[in-house]
Amino acid sequence: MTTLAGRLLVADSSTRQMTLRSGSIRINDGRIADVTLNDDAITTTDGFRPLTPGELIVCPGFIDAHLHLSQFGIIGAHGLPLLKWLDQVTFPAERSWQDENFAREMTRSVLTQLLSFGTTSFCGYTTVHHDSAIAALEVASQMGFRGMIGQVLMDRNAPTDLCRETNRLIDEAAETLKRFPPTSEMAAAVTPRFAITCSPQLLESAGALAAEHNAAIQTHLAETKQECARVAELFDSARYVNVYQDAKLLTPRTILGHGIHLDALDRQTLATQGAVIAHCPTANRFLGSGQMNRQALDQAQVNVVLGSDIGAGYERSMVSVARAAIGTAASLGNTPPTAASAWYDITAGTADALGWDDVGQLRQGYRADVVVIQPDFTTQMQGHDSIIDPLSQLMFAWDDRWVKQTYLRGQSVWGG
Ligand code: GUN
Ligand code: ZN
Repeated sequence: MTTLAGRLLVADSSTRQMTLRSGSIRINDGRIADVTLNDDAITTTDGFRPLTPGELIVCPGFIDAHLHLSQFGIIGAHGLPLLKWLDQVTFPAERSWQDENFAREMTRSVLTQLLSFGTTSFCGYTTVHHDSAIAALEVASQMGFRGMIGQVLMDRNAPTDLCRETNRLIDEAAETLKRFPPTSEMAAAVTPRFAITCSPQLLESAGALAAEHNAAIQTHLAETKQECARVAELFDSARYVNVYQDAKLLTPRTILGHGIHLDALDRQTLATQGAVIAHCPTANRFLGSGQMNRQALDQAQVNVVLGSDIGAGYERSMVSVARAAIGTAASLGNTPPTAASAWYDITAGTADALGWDDVGQLRQGYRADVVVIQPDFTTQMQGHDSIIDPLSQLMFAWDDRWVKQTYLRGQSVWGG
């Protein structure tokens, strides 16, 4: 039995915000056995209790809803526009994954990095190489992560050695689903890369396969204008969202990376189908793809989650990604999310949108995936502490060195 005490980051599902409460959690057998809260809610209209020196903050592990395991080696490599970046930087890097042992070692290394940043759950892409996708799923499962991984499916418009015959891809994806079914803590996801590199037959078969298994689906949508124009050329001027909808790829278990260049009708389609958009603000900045209007998606009642989108994204920390999302909203002139809701986004909010009812909150019975944080600063405004929101301070002064310990299923797996 382990007990962790300090200020707990506690989810309030009705306001979709986190609050800081002092208390403790007890961990038993990989799960949170109980949560004790002292009666001192501090995110109140009367003011905030400031951070005090040495205080520990106990957080649910962070969730990264969109990343590419095979792209950690190209973070920061040439901020080219998307389609050029794929051709010149990304596809060559993904070739290394033809070696299953390379993929296995790289997965172990990048997942260890994620733990050091407090990420305990993720939705990841691999490459087109089947054995390497299986290896990545095995490593992530053995390490105790929660989430999903998908073998990238491509049968056209990419280098020949990175494309596969359509039926072979579907057979491989089916085999992966058999080994890591949707009920697994680390599950396979059906992952057609995006409409440009997938034939209509591949998209359709991928949709049918996902429906048959009730599996999660990952793909990219409307990240750049040039990409949208190419999709229109390839699919008889169909709307990009309709290309996916026609292939039955828009479901409540679908996570679409980016979704920047959409109009009201597209947003309505996404909302009706219940598909989720993974907003990746740092990747959008790096590739110059445009700024996603999250407020418009929120108003249309489309579920939005946050992703690092490494390697187009350059921040491995989900706290940094959440901070960038606040920056994007502010620069569009929209009302930016509060820090309390941005903390919710990278924990309980993503879990909720993805239908994961065992992570994202410090809650009895949930997996004990926990990050212990020790900030090295305290509030400096003597006498005015109560006007400073410690959750905002934590997010904007954030330093990854504050992650002191990360737990997966109650085991200390980083720091300590
Ligand atoms: N669209 C299709 N593939 C990719 C990828 O690997 N990264 C990003 N950012 N967008 C994509
Ligand atoms: Zn991506």
